[in-house]
Amino acid sequence: MRLYLLLFLSVVNGGTSTYRPLEYLPCELIKMDAFCQEKDLFQIPPNLYPTIEKLDLSRNQLQRVAERPLTFYTAVQHLDLSSNKISFIYSGVFANMTSLNILNLSNNQLDQFVQQSKPGIGLIPQVKILDLSGNSLYNGMAEHFIEKAPSLTHLSLASNSITTISAKMFIGSPSLTDLDLHNNIIMDIEEGAFENLPHLFKLDLSMNSLTCISGYNLQQLHILDLSKNSIETFHTTESEEEYNLEELDLSENKLMDFPVLPKKNWLISLNVSKNLIQLGSESSPDDINYLEEDWLKDSFQILNQTPKTTVKNASSVNLSKLVYLDLSYNEIKSIPDGFFDTMSSLHFLNLSKNCLQTYVVTSNYALTSLVTLDLSYNVLQNLSIAINTLTSLQTFYLQSNFLQALEFDIFQGLPNIKELNLQSNNIKVCSTYSGVAKQRIGKDDNGCVSLFSISTLQYLDLSDNMMKNLPEYAFHKTPLTMLDLSLNQGLKVKAQALSGLESFLEYLHLDGNGLSTLNVDLPHFVHLKHLSLSHNQLTWLPTWNKDCTLQILDLRNNSFSDLQTSDITALEKTLKKLYLSGNPLSCCGNIWLSHMIQKGLVDIPDLEVMSCQYSKTFAYQEDILISHIRPEVCEKENLKKMNIFIVLAFVLILSIIVIGLFSFCCFRRQKFRQQFKA
Ligand SMILES: *[C@@H]1O[C@H](CO)[C@@H](O)[C@H](O)[C@H]1NC(C)=O
Ligand SMILES: *[C@@H]1O[C@H](CO)[C@@H](O)[C@H](O)[C@H]1NC(C)=O
Ligand SMILES: *[C@@H]1O[C@H](CO)[C@@H](O)[C@H](O)[C@H]1NC(C)=O
Ligand SMILES: *[C@@H]1O[C@H](CO)[C@@H](O)[C@H](O)[C@H]1NC(C)=O
Ligand SMILES: *[C@@H]1O[C@H](CO)[C@@H](O)[C@H](O)[C@H]1NC(C)=O
Ligand SMILES: *[C@@H]1O[C@H](CO)[C@@H](O)[C@H](O)[C@H]1NC(C)=O
Ligand SMILES: *[C@@H]1O[C@H](CO)[C@@H](O)[C@H](O)[C@H]1NC(C)=O
Ligand SMILES: *[C@@H]1O[C@H](CO)[C@@H](O)[C@H](O)[C@H]1NC(C)=O
Repeated sequence: MRLYLLLFLSVVNGGTSTYRPLEYLPCELIKMDAFCQEKDLFQIPPNLYPTIEKLDLSRNQLQRVAERPLTFYTAVQHLDLSSNKISFIYSGVFANMTSLNILNLSNNQLDQFVQQSKPGIGLIPQVKILDLSGNSLYNGMAEHFIEKAPSLTHLSLASNSITTISAKMFIGSPSLTDLDLHNNIIMDIEEGAFENLPHLFKLDLSMNSLTCISGYNLQQLHILDLSKNSIETFHTTESEEEYNLEELDLSENKLMDFPVLPKKNWLISLNVSKNLIQLGSESSPDDINYLEEDWLKDSFQILNQTPKTTVKNASSVNLSKLVYLDLSYNEIKSIPDGFFDTMSSLHFLNLSKNCLQTYVVTSNYALTSLVTLDLSYNVLQNLSIAINTLTSLQTFYLQSNFLQALEFDIFQGLPNIKELNLQSNNIKVCSTYSGVAKQRIGKDDNGCVSLFSISTLQYLDLSDNMMKNLPEYAFHKTPLTMLDLSLNQGLKVKAQALSGLESFLEYLHLDGNGLSTLNVDLPHFVHLKHLSLSHNQLTWLPTWNKDCTLQILDLRNNSFSDLQTSDITALEKTLKKLYLSGNPLSCCGNIWLSHMIQKGLVDIPDLEVMSCQYSKTFAYQEDILISHIRPEVCEKENLKKMNIFIVLAFVLILSIIVIGLFSFCCFRRQKFRQQFKA
């Protein structure tokens, strides 16, 4: 048998048929680990050291796991049999493998094993980690592998075909801490299924077909993933017991209401993104009669599913440990007063992609720890933030709303704000002076927002705001490193608009503004790394010098014809990328470019489509690819031009002489006539 196998292996390896055992070993041995993956093996190799500790047989052709030779390898701790065709396992084969800790049986055909034979695989005495994922296991099949698994802590049954978790399923594996049931078709969980697993820490039930979690009572659990089901309600059993739950993922379900969470909890992270949640009075017309003060006081009171009944008694849940709350992609139109009152630790709040029209932060607001607030993609018209409320806020996303008239100093009340995204709104920016004036008057007249003197702000996106004017000193004393003013078609940038940013700005975007002149003295912005000016009508750029540190310069789709005077070559040391396509460049007015291409120091990504205009004669211009231009051609052209100039000058002088002579004649004749008359 052994010889036969070796012969077979030698054939597999294409070797000679002489018997030299080690040479035919299909496995690579590194210390005590044998790596035999992807060797087209039909059997477990019998000629490995009996002391090997890891045996990797993944991605072979194994169909059976028999007693021999596996039981020789009693020292194996990690056995990887994944991605074979195993449909038979000898009952009790692992019983004496007391070192075996990790057993990987994923991606086999174990459903057939269960169908063929009655007894399971028997005792797996020390296995702690068992992977049974991807085996088409149906209800009642998994039990055959875990009926005697006293040490098992980590079990994966992911990507099988289980529809029901029966009450007895995990009786043979009472030590489970980590259970993965991701990607099955689970519709039903019998009562008691997880209750007998006192150490269960993490349970993954994502991507199943659950529709309702009622009477949640798994106090032992720390992490629960229920994302990607069809859950409409999540309801915890009313209890004074403490729940260990720290992370709950209910994203991508069909929740209509905020989940009913355990009263005493340690919840740190709650994800209810991509549901149908409404929080406020908009729930349904029937709700209105029971939206009395009680409901407003108690933000977590959950309305009953059936519209006619009044408020269900749900006491307030203290979420004082909550750090992450993702409420994005729901149908929230308004937020009940006091909703965030207990969330004093919240760092991250995502309310993006809801239907909020108004967001008001009142002075007794609890969210003093909030660092990131995402209100993007709502329909916000009104935003008001009382002073000394969002004192920790650093990142504020407000893009894609309808913000227009805000209190002019709204962002100055955020003492730690670092990043502000106001893209796609309708914001007007105040100048320093109008701001000061308003401060004096204390009234907002033209609806502008002041963005100066925000000493912590670094990133500001004001693109696509239909902004027509950028007044002088708009960002005075605000140390912006990134400023995006793109897509404000028709924007007039006042001469001193960016004054004060010279020593801070690193990224400046002015794309698509229809600018025909640039009022900004760019070479003074010594830290500028990335400048994009694409899609404007610029014809002129200021002269760069060696102090500039520009790395990316985007000048696409403008009206530049001659950039010789801008001295872009002065940037050669730092410049990494230069975009210039879509400009009516003259070939001979940009000899610097040919030199730059020849040197190859700067990457010009759109070189292939960059053309320039070459005037052969005065009337005729030819478009040629920049990369085909040779400086000599232009020197010749210059010579030709010179000749033409000389000819022209000659013609001119000649005509002046002729005209001079002619007029002299006329003059003489006239004088003669006058004399004659006289
Ligand atoms: C396990 O060990 C016991 C006693 O040493 C022996 O009787 C039994 O046959 C062994 N089982 C296997 C599958 O090797
Ligand atoms: C088992 O093998 C599969 C496929 O090779 C791999 O993706 C998985 O991570 C392994 N499981 C364990 C617990 O190592
Ligand atoms: C919440 O779930 C969504 C969808 O599964 C995911 O994209 C998002 O990153 C999660 N949010 C957090 C804060 O983890
Ligand atoms: C409602 O909750 C309160 C505590 O908030 C409790 O005293 C009362 O018994 C509850 N009522 C019902 C009907 O459960
Ligand atoms: C919530 O619990 C924290 C301690 O866990 C406590 O300090 C706080 O007062 C509680 N808040 C409410 C509203 O019960
Ligand atoms: C908020 O959620 C939206 C939608 O799920 C997502 O695109 C966005 O990146 C999230 N915001 C943050 C700051 O993670
Ligand atoms: C926004 O505020 C203005 C004035 O403060 C008010 O007239 C308007 O109704 C508010 N809009 C919404 C949607 O609340
Ligand atoms: C930009 O220029 C390219 C040619 O380089 C042209 O194909 C493109 O249509 C232009 N884009 C716009 C928006 O004008």
